[in-house]
Amino acid sequence: MTYREVYGGWLEHPQAFWQTQAKSLAWYKFPTITQQADEHGADRWFTDGELNTCYLALDYHIEQGRGDDTALIYDSPALGMQLGRNPVIKRYSFKELRDEVAKTAGMLANLGVQKGDRVIIYMPMIPEAAIAMLACARLGVIHSVVFGGFASHELAVRIEDAEPKVILSASCGIELSKVIPYKPLLDAALEESSHKVEHCIIFQRSELKVKAEMQAGRDLDWQSELAKAQPVGCTPVKATDPLYILYTSGTTGKPKGIVRDNGGHAVALRYSMEIVYGMKPGEVFWAASDVGWVVGHSYIVYAPLISGCTTVLYEGKPVKSPDAGAFWRVIAEHKVRALFTAPTAFRAVKKEDPEATLLKNHDISSLKCIFMAGERLDPPTYEWLSQVTALPVYDHWWQTETGWAICANPVGVEPAKIKAGSATYPMPGFDVRILREDGSEAEVNEQGYVTVKRPLPPSCLATVWRNPERFYDSYMSQFPGYYLTGDGGYKDEEGYLFVMGRVDDVINVAGHRLSTGEMEEIVGAHQAVAECAVIAVPDNLKGHVPVGLVVLKDGAAIAEDALHTELNQMIRKTIGPIACYQQTLIVQRLPKTRSGKILRRTLRQMSAKETYAVPSTIDDPLILTEIAEVMETRLSLS
Ligand code: COA
Ligand code: AMP
Repeated sequence: MTYREVYGGWLEHPQAFWQTQAKSLAWYKFPTITQQADEHGADRWFTDGELNTCYLALDYHIEQGRGDDTALIYDSPALGMQLGRNPVIKRYSFKELRDEVAKTAGMLANLGVQKGDRVIIYMPMIPEAAIAMLACARLGVIHSVVFGGFASHELAVRIEDAEPKVILSASCGIELSKVIPYKPLLDAALEESSHKVEHCIIFQRSELKVKAEMQAGRDLDWQSELAKAQPVGCTPVKATDPLYILYTSGTTGKPKGIVRDNGGHAVALRYSMEIVYGMKPGEVFWAASDVGWVVGHSYIVYAPLISGCTTVLYEGKPVKSPDAGAFWRVIAEHKVRALFTAPTAFRAVKKEDPEATLLKNHDISSLKCIFMAGERLDPPTYEWLSQVTALPVYDHWWQTETGWAICANPVGVEPAKIKAGSATYPMPGFDVRILREDGSEAEVNEQGYVTVKRPLPPSCLATVWRNPERFYDSYMSQFPGYYLTGDGGYKDEEGYLFVMGRVDDVINVAGHRLSTGEMEEIVGAHQAVAECAVIAVPDNLKGHVPVGLVVLKDGAAIAEDALHTELNQMIRKTIGPIACYQQTLIVQRLPKTRSGKILRRTLRQMSAKETYAVPSTIDDPLILTEIAEVMETRLSLS
């Protein structure tokens, strides 16, 4: 079949299309209802179906006679380097992984954790992180993984919102040469949060020197608790029961708890492995990301395992792990068929090894294609990577909210011609429309808001955790009947989608989604700052980095450098080091509309040296001349 036939088939009979996809899974109760809108206006899938996501990821394959096949490969150059030796590698068959998961579920059950309870997972990239997620899924418990690079405040905000019964964590993570103790961050977060957890279970990384300090009664040792536990089976859940909450940055300091359900998620993720990635059971898939991000949830843990593939869990960086040949080594060593990472990872490799000389030391013939997401695949990185590997390099576009690709190259059906800078075509289930401010449809090649006409397909967010109003206001209210992605872009004459960047206060730094709105709240809280705008400025390595334009209070006397150091510390302490707050520019005034709204979009365009129209609503156009001069003379771009 061609892509057009598949997509057209879905458009004509959407319910029948997804019923067919649902048949590829082993349900406890097959759904008779395919899709319904709920009372909050969310599109819900397979509402009367029952299943268990962990069963689909592990037990099902064992029942099919594949129990001895490899399910997960842990590969850690980070740990190897700490121990002064080669990467530490550990393989789990489906049976071994199921046994670990079943016991870990038993450990949680012993503490009274039950279906519907929340468990926060704050862990480095070790197998126990994936085991913990699957153990929650086994019990019907809702997990919420928090990325290890977030500071304790971010963790506290998530604890406060999710109200977990238990937190699973580890003694430390590894960031190249640094070992980062996790327990002090966890303790500080618990101190800050008004919600009190019953227990923290801490995995002690015995090979490393950092020892977690335990609080008697509350903190428990993972290994000792596990030793007492009995394996438990899978709890059937409704398709619409939540599998997880994953917090993502919105426009304010309060992140949005994206709720993913079990049924739609399993159906869409299995289908995505086929159509987007062209993967078959038994093949090796590697998503070089972190379980703290949606890419890690979908493509390190759930989709490959549900599809019976082998997944690689990598603890390390693309560079300095120990060198820029790290990715080539992993591909060769584990016979990876498809790699998925963020463009920034290969920009880092290109910077350190521009001729890709390290590639010559490794046989990467197993690799058939490379997938990129997290940020736009910029044409220079695309050209370089396709040239050095002689492989197809596919951009695809999606977000935490959808859980799988909105637009991609339909590799599993019929690979389309690649256009550099485009994420290619919408996937079945997504009716992508480009809308103007007034809600009318844009012409071909005209930029506008990228939206998806409802209903949204399976796996897309069910709601914002305990905040249906925010779900509606953030995504559904601006254009009734359409889901607002928050991205701007256009479609060309052949229907290719070009996503050009966020139209809101969200920034992507090295593939990490953060909120400039939250950064503004922090900068604005500095005693010398009267008002500020934090904008995304282009960066050669990280795609974008945040830069603050700051107006000082009358009488405040502080040098720009000193102010920057203080603001940087505040942002690192509140959000975390991953924010990479780059520079502070003191300006006399900020450009605003007559109603007082800061013209952030214009500032972004100016910093990127794009042509921009002076908005008709501007209060004083002369300010733009002043800002242009500041940017010209003092903004350091790299
Ligand atoms: N735990 C603790 N700290 C973390 C962390 C984690 N999990 N991840 C990052 N950090 C810290 C880093 O140590 C660094 O701290 P520093 O400023 O004190 O040195 C800071 O956060 C910035 O980290 P990072 O953005 O990773 O920059 P880097 O210079 O160390 O590495 C890249 C640059 C491009 C190699 C790296 O960003 C990368 O691999 N990016 C790919 C991202 C990715 O996979 N995204 C997922 C979406 S698909
Ligand atoms: P996250 O929710 O962290 O996955 O971030 C999602 C956002 O990252 C999207 O809304 C886009 O702004 C950006 N993004 C992800 N993938 C792409 C891509 N392939 N092209 C352009 N932007 C992307």
